[in-house]
Amino acid sequence: MILQASGAGLIEKVLPDGVASVEAFCDPPDAVLYPGEAELITRAVDKRRREFRTVRHCARQALRQLGLPPAPVLRGERGEPLWPAGVVGSMTHCAGYRAAAVAHSCDVRALGIDAEPHEPLPAGVLEIITVEQERGSLSELAAADSATCWDRILFCAKETLYKAWFPLTRRWLGFEDAAVTINPGTIDPAQGTFSTQLLVDAPTNTGQTLTHLDGRWLRSDELVITTIVLGYGSR
Ligand SMILES: CC(C)(COP(=O)(O)OP(=O)(O)OC[C@H]1O[C@@H](n2cnc3c(N)ncnc32)[C@H](O)[C@@H]1OP(=O)(O)O)[C@@H](O)C(=O)NCCC(=O)NCCS
Repeated sequence: MILQASGAGLIEKVLPDGVASVEAFCDPPDAVLYPGEAELITRAVDKRRREFRTVRHCARQALRQLGLPPAPVLRGERGEPLWPAGVVGSMTHCAGYRAAAVAHSCDVRALGIDAEPHEPLPAGVLEIITVEQERGSLSELAAADSATCWDRILFCAKETLYKAWFPLTRRWLGFEDAAVTINPGTIDPAQGTFSTQLLVDAPTNTGQTLTHLDGRWLRSDELVITTIVLGYGSR
């Protein structure tokens, strides 16, 4: 199976109804670039070209699930994807995996997704990407379940937060600017939720200040996937 659309995919397990997602576990040969996209990767190496092309192919399939025509997905000044009017979305790629998720902006205010290999973080990274309260909770999680790479889930959750946060605020968010609490799964130990507490104040595009964003995580043997979907009723 090359492309996995909503119905049987990994990422859709941690996305609500109303969010369309498509994922790929390799690079389909029929994926093509749309106008303006090739110019964004003229200097890129082959690996980058492949992930860039495939994830946009996924994005167009996901747009189709929303009933929308295919469109180029260009990049804003801080790397954020530029979606067609009326759409919010997010994309991710890592070794052996690419995914895109989109929703109508009347249903969803902000969306972030991230995927990472299900492996411990490289030495030295944890100290850079965590605040003290997170390091304490990671030790407790590891004591209860040593088969899950909790440090990777935390990292993935923080990158997901940035992807949801940036289009709302147009501001940088450092790893020291948020604290994530991971909640282990109660029924399925390979899926759970997380909450993020923002440690900086920043008005969003509606003038409201965000204090928390909640998300979901999933892990397989190979992958960690995290998602944040901010609806209009959310805090
Ligand atoms: C931008 C970032 C989050 C991307 O994550 P990553 O794991 O390196 O890469 P992924 O493959 O998962 O995601 C790449 C996609 O992110 C998206 N992206 C990049 N910048 C973005 C931004 N400012 N806002 C939203 N999405 C963005 C793009 O769609 C990109 O795909 P593309 O380059 O093919 O268009 C990461 O590189 C980064 O800069 N992190 C530092 C900021 C951060 O995470 N802070 C933590 C706050 S607690």
